[in-house]
Amino acid sequence: MRKLHMLFFLSSLLLFGACKKDADDSPGTNTELDNQLESALNSISEGEGLDFFKFPDSDDYANIPQDPNNPITAEKVQLGKLLFHETALGINPEQAVGLKTYSCASCHFASAGFQAGRWQGVGEGGVGFGHNGEARERGSLYSGDQLDVQPLRTPSAMNTAFQEVMLWNGQFGATGVNEGTEYAWTIGTPIENNNLGFMGTEIQAIAGLKVHRMGIDDELLDNLGYRALFDAAFSDKTIETRYTRVTAGLAIAAYERTIMANQAPFQKWLKGEKSAMGASEKRGAVLFFTQAKCGNCHTGPALSETDFHALGMADLHSCPETVFQAGENSAANLGRAQFTGLDEDKYKFKTPQLYNLKDSKFFGHGSSIRSLKAVVEYYNDAVTEISIPAEQLAEDFVPLNLTSQDIEDITAFMAESLYDPNLARYQPESLPSGGCIPVSDPLSMTQLGCN
Ligand code: HEC
Ligand code: HEC
Repeated sequence: MRKLHMLFFLSSLLLFGACKKDADDSPGTNTELDNQLESALNSISEGEGLDFFKFPDSDDYANIPQDPNNPITAEKVQLGKLLFHETALGINPEQAVGLKTYSCASCHFASAGFQAGRWQGVGEGGVGFGHNGEARERGSLYSGDQLDVQPLRTPSAMNTAFQEVMLWNGQFGATGVNEGTEYAWTIGTPIENNNLGFMGTEIQAIAGLKVHRMGIDDELLDNLGYRALFDAAFSDKTIETRYTRVTAGLAIAAYERTIMANQAPFQKWLKGEKSAMGASEKRGAVLFFTQAKCGNCHTGPALSETDFHALGMADLHSCPETVFQAGENSAANLGRAQFTGLDEDKYKFKTPQLYNLKDSKFFGHGSSIRSLKAVVEYYNDAVTEISIPAEQLAEDFVPLNLTSQDIEDITAFMAESLYDPNLARYQPESLPSGGCIPVSDPLSMTQLGCN
């Protein structure tokens, strides 16, 4: 039966192929391109096949990778979804004017693919939002040193269930590639939280609440109704341990694990809807997983194998825009070595997830590359932006000899096939505090239409 279809399809392709755009997108038909992509995925996943790249549904908790010490439940996800966006958590500001104006979402919001929409995310101390985060600036009462900013670009907080450790240097998380790094879990620093023993998403959320000046107080619990949500999510915990930064972080992490780009066209294609991707995207995907070597590192559902590589991309201080607390000598520029202290880890950064980058203008840990196509050209040329010792550089960073059509196709694959158009489903409609998502300073509230 399938053969007959194929014959019919091939003959129609011969007849109409020349004038019919994306002829191989006929629904339900496995074309030559689909077959090529399937075999590329098979070989790069060492025979695991399409399943190796599929996200589960966001409510299919049993199939979402999770920390055995923080099982995902509907109650935790509901609480975490609110806490992640709740500006009423902003109770430890550097300046009174910042009180309750910021949240995790200030630097990771849905409409920017859970990134910051800016070359450098600004939490507390920023004012303004603009169209999508790009216009957030230093508030006039704050010095640059008082802002909540980091010396690296804000990566996405999406698809983290498929990466065991967090941050560009992978410092958060007690398991996986961080086993054996206990010597670096220094007490008195955010990394001390690794001693709690949780996986990366959990540790990042627990540590991040403090780093980003947030906390849980009685006002939040009693006047905003959060106590009942903690009771529902953490009935297994004693009253003393139920309403803490740790439980708040665990709820946030459970929620983050459900944020997956599972409505992206590539995901639909993997699940059998072959017409979800156009011909150029399919050609790009085949190249991505074969000749262009991208899939050697960008693999698995999040297209990140959770390893660290040096690709010579420039650091944040080189941005033409104003940056804060980032310089030529920032320890963060060392990459994984900042955490492990090992020479062999110098300038190596975690392979990032690749979904919903279409609207982004900033790529690489230092926001140094400014379009998706420019990233592909960067790999194709294999010329580093900064000079790093040759022995550190990723082995696969060699000229790829791609044609300009190949570059267009790989770009199309990333821009279109890896784009989930409906991330708004992960954002609450409103907050118990009445705060504005994702930022509640007065200027942003006006720009966002919150008052
Ligand atoms: C001021 C902006 C800002 C705020 C606020 C913020 N983040 Fe981040 N986030 C960042 C930056 C920058 C990084 C990367 C830092 C690094 O690698 O050293 C990051 C990294 C992460 C990552 C790791 C992603 C990856 O691929 O490794 C997660 C997850 C995350 N943040 C979640 C959160 C949560 C949860 C909160 C609230 C508790 C939060 N963030 C608040 C800017 C922010
Ligand atoms: C050796 C492993 C490796 C290979 C091969 C590789 N990447 Fe990457 N990719 C990374 C790492 C690591 C980064 C982050 C580097 C940095 O910021 O310094 C990255 C960054 C990116 C980014 C920017 C994402 C962001 O959020 O900043 C894109 C897009 C990307 N890669 C696409 C590709 C494509 C397309 C290919 C194939 C042409 C490819 N990668 C090949 C490891 C790899």
